[in-house]
Amino acid sequence: MCGIFGYVTSKEEAIGPILIAAAERLTYRGYDSVGAAALNGSKIDLRKDVGKVEEVAAKYNFAELRGQRGIVQLRWATFGEPSQVNAQPHLDSDGDLVGAHNGNVVNNVELREQFIAEGLTVRSQNDGETCVHAVERYLNRGYEFIDAIRLAYGDLQGDYAFVIGRAGDDKLYAFKKGSGMVVGLGEGFTCVSSDLPSILPLTRTVIRPQDGEIVTLWADHVEVRSVKDGKKIDRMPETVTESMDAVQKGGYPHFMLKEIHEQSQVARELIHLLDASPEIETVIEKMKNARHLYLIGCGTSYHAAAVGSVYLAQLAGRAAIPVLAPQFIAQYAPTVGYQDVGIFVSQSGETKDVLNALEAAEARGMTCFGLANVVGSTLTKATSFCLPLCCGYEISVPATKTFTNQVITFLYLAYRMANRLTSDLERIPELMEQTLAQTAPQVEALAKEINEWNDLYCLGYGATYPIALEGALKLKEITYAHCEGMLSTEFKHGPLSAVSKGFPILFVAGPNDVPLIISGLNEVKVRGARTIVIAEDDPRLRANADDLIVIPKSDPQIAAPLGVLPLQLLSYHMSVMRGFDPDFPRNLSKTLTVD
Ligand code: G6P
Repeated sequence: MCGIFGYVTSKEEAIGPILIAAAERLTYRGYDSVGAAALNGSKIDLRKDVGKVEEVAAKYNFAELRGQRGIVQLRWATFGEPSQVNAQPHLDSDGDLVGAHNGNVVNNVELREQFIAEGLTVRSQNDGETCVHAVERYLNRGYEFIDAIRLAYGDLQGDYAFVIGRAGDDKLYAFKKGSGMVVGLGEGFTCVSSDLPSILPLTRTVIRPQDGEIVTLWADHVEVRSVKDGKKIDRMPETVTESMDAVQKGGYPHFMLKEIHEQSQVARELIHLLDASPEIETVIEKMKNARHLYLIGCGTSYHAAAVGSVYLAQLAGRAAIPVLAPQFIAQYAPTVGYQDVGIFVSQSGETKDVLNALEAAEARGMTCFGLANVVGSTLTKATSFCLPLCCGYEISVPATKTFTNQVITFLYLAYRMANRLTSDLERIPELMEQTLAQTAPQVEALAKEINEWNDLYCLGYGATYPIALEGALKLKEITYAHCEGMLSTEFKHGPLSAVSKGFPILFVAGPNDVPLIISGLNEVKVRGARTIVIAEDDPRLRANADDLIVIPKSDPQIAAPLGVLPLQLLSYHMSVMRGFDPDFPRNLSKTLTVD
């Protein structure tokens, strides 16, 4: 997830060290390139490149930057590969304006074409540059800065926070939509950032602008105006009292819990981005026409592929084979050819098992697409097109938000292939928020009650079968308990013998699977099991299950990404109750670059 920081002081000073320190405090958000701009009188000194803060800052001597205003940005690639030209901040056509954003402008491609047609100089593919030109175009037409921003705001679709300054001026402007933004008020300076950690060491007095508000920052004060009518808005400063660690975790005790709660926001951004992605058409065409379609991944990403294969079959009538990457090599690689298509799914884009499978597939001429969170990773470079997951940095080792966005991407592809309205998917983020809010207290209480158990089962059917596998994996990863995920109907073929009094068995059910789940749960209940069902409210389930964790009513396919949320929460709470650190479980690594 990109991070921005802007700083305004009353006189020219060595601003470089302030920008470097702010950049270092944004690194936890994840990034691939870094850039800093100092505005000094009528001059803008812009330095940027791909790499870590310490490398880029040393190579381009950020420390010597001087000025009265400065902007620093850490980029997490979504539009345009990680490269120097795509790194932020960006200049306008004449080099009079400099700006940087975080987030995604989803109509980036369309706007860039308009700017080029209007004669503006567009240098990169990056949507941060689009924000700069969006303001430039109206300044060129003679509008005042605030009015130019108001008009630009109307043109820029997506979720973002943006800061911009003009040479020869004494202020910065910032505005946001959907993404976070905080303004800091200090002694003789003001600053603005995508989040608090870069501001806190400088000042604890902050203002939190809302969507549709424009902030003008001078060294000694700020002014907030409404995008709608340009009128001034009173925003009272507040004092932040939390520790830096708590602030980095967004006030949550662990990154995992923060990332669980970020899922609805990243889902929202993903759906907007998919709607705006022109390349998706090519992917869909190739998927439709493939002789065989393989969905390849490991761990959590494999589970998302397995949910995807259910969606493609159920909604679009397209058979797709979900397969673990090493098994693809062992089983299918010798059979594939140019008529086949593979979608390689990976959060990191660096999992060696997945890259090995990709190499084997490419050697046979198969068409290979990617689905990855880290743009610029090996997978994104090695596939003909890689759909970004748009989740920002996932710090916690157990994947949560990357999983749900993988699942939603497959659901989106299935909808498109079935010619269904993707606008129906826009309610998913809200349903996710609702699910977390309504299940959290019950799940925490349940975690306490079943925490003594070191053997558990998690069962599902159809689209919720891989969700059960994923729930079981989460429980294994961070509670160190043995938890098996299984197709619910398979339980009677063996595992039934393990059931003893109180033995916890979790069921995740889609609305169409209730009768089947009821027979499964009675089978184990009569043998003493404690049956815990995650499903939409249903009197039949209320009558039969020991515990019913109710998720909101939705389509059968949407129940899957909703059903995983209580399982993530359950694993999290059981892990914490056991005294473990869910963010960094023993023996596991976020990215496995070995065979
Ligand atoms: C590791 C992680 C898992 C992850 C798997 C695949 O084993 O611990 O959480 O699901 O790799 O990672 P990927 O980055 O390819 O999705």
